[in-house]
Amino acid sequence: MNAKNVALSLACAAFAVGCANKPLVKVANVNTPTTGQEKTNPDAGDTENHADKMLAEGRETFRYETFGSEQFWGAQLGLHKTIAGQAKGGIGPGLTPRQALNLGLKVDADRLPAIVVEAVKGGSLNLDDPEMTLELLRADSVVGVKGFFSNDKLVSVGIRCALCHSQVDDSIAKGIGERLDGWPNRDLDVGKIVLLAPNLEPLAQAVGADVTTARKVLTAWGPGKYDAQLNMDGKGFRPDGKSAATVIPAAFGLAGVNLGTYTGWGSITYWNAYVATNQMHGFGRFFDPRLGEPAQFKMAAKNELNNVNSENDRTTSKLAALHFYQLAIPAPKAPKDSFNEAAAKRGEGVFKGKAKCASCHVPPLYTEPGWSMHTADEIGIDDFQASRSPDKKYYRTTPLRGLFARKTPGFYHDGRFADLAAVITHYQGVLRFELSDSERADLIEFLKSL
Ligand code: HEC
Ligand code: HEC
Repeated sequence: MNAKNVALSLACAAFAVGCANKPLVKVANVNTPTTGQEKTNPDAGDTENHADKMLAEGRETFRYETFGSEQFWGAQLGLHKTIAGQAKGGIGPGLTPRQALNLGLKVDADRLPAIVVEAVKGGSLNLDDPEMTLELLRADSVVGVKGFFSNDKLVSVGIRCALCHSQVDDSIAKGIGERLDGWPNRDLDVGKIVLLAPNLEPLAQAVGADVTTARKVLTAWGPGKYDAQLNMDGKGFRPDGKSAATVIPAAFGLAGVNLGTYTGWGSITYWNAYVATNQMHGFGRFFDPRLGEPAQFKMAAKNELNNVNSENDRTTSKLAALHFYQLAIPAPKAPKDSFNEAAAKRGEGVFKGKAKCASCHVPPLYTEPGWSMHTADEIGIDDFQASRSPDKKYYRTTPLRGLFARKTPGFYHDGRFADLAAVITHYQGVLRFELSDSERADLIEFLKSL
């Protein structure tokens, strides 16, 4: 008996539970033929069961967990009051489904009763009645938003990861369909949604501004953008006067990618703990001494966001499965008719050859295996966003798979390049290479095919 098995048998003796059917010595003989029913290697079975469980739990968390964020969006900002409207115990006229859809919010058709789906399809659902918004929330069909009801009254709202990182396929109507987890919601106007809240004082305080300034910052974001660093450094605008927000990135195709975020704050699980506590305002634990540095992270240092320790931690126990689930989300394949296949094939040669793209975007990850970080100079842009990160000076090579699912509002961390042609023109200047018109066109088709 080896040391591990001795420990195991002691544990069995002490607790006398759950040990009876487990052999103390595990024999994994790969040559033994199986009947298809018994498992010769119990470890493999355990791993598969574990993987299934992690996937299911992680998906549940990604789609539905609010981490208690209703304590901020509902209890403090009062967002639910504007959604409900005065007639239903809130304030103002209430938010209609049409307005919600125009703000980029999405509806998960799988959660709607069949009769409602038929009404949407037939155009008989009244999209201008705020009561319908409450019905959609009651059915828990608004992607990433959870309404809390008491005696039929909307009393709070919380948010979930899916708010920003899921789309729907529009199969029933625009904004209504099957969920597409991991797709960034580039229609979502987070700033305008937050501006609906009757009390912006807690948000303004968190970013170290007055409410008027906070409003200006939120107004400047626009669809598909959010600033996940505003309450760290209080920087709402760049030196050139434009918004400091970044475009919402994909949460698919990230397996094999080393650091998360445009500027490499940390791994995916690092960032998930950060977002759940410091952005969504849920309950959890988060530790990063780098953010206690007041010269760079004025607001984080002031509010001790470098060491968050909620009494009721609803995050930490969910991080492992949440991480696992995100790694499992594949990048979607570009629809066959969305690019020219022969041109894309030729473009692959340009990507790997003359245009030097594959020196950083290494296939099949399309980012570098290893430490995939570059200075602003290397990619020929300003260092504003890089300087806001704990490392202060790098941008991460964005993995390019599923580019077709994130073409608005533009490419690069702030969406500065309106289309792929503009991206290539930029690189031609920085990396100094010449392409014929047809090579450029082929390269674009290749990027569209990823
Ligand atoms: C309000 C919108 C919003 C919500 C809610 C949100 N995120 Fe994000 N997420 C962003 C933005 C914006 C970034 C980009 C930040 C950056 O790079 O500086 C980001 C970055 C990420 C990244 C890094 C992607 C990459 O390419 O490296 C992952 C992974 C991620 N979020 C997962 C999550 C998870 C999991 C949750 C829930 C715990 C969540 N996000 C909640 C907006 C959001
Ligand atoms: C020196 C390394 C490097 C080289 C070479 C390089 N890239 Fe990039 N690429 C990056 C980095 C870093 C980013 C992230 C920039 C940002 O978000 O501001 C990026 C971002 C992109 C994006 C934007 C993705 C998105 O979702 O916003 C595209 C598209 C892209 N690169 C295509 C290319 C093409 C095409 C080439 C060849 C012409 C190329 N890259 C060459 C490092 C590189």
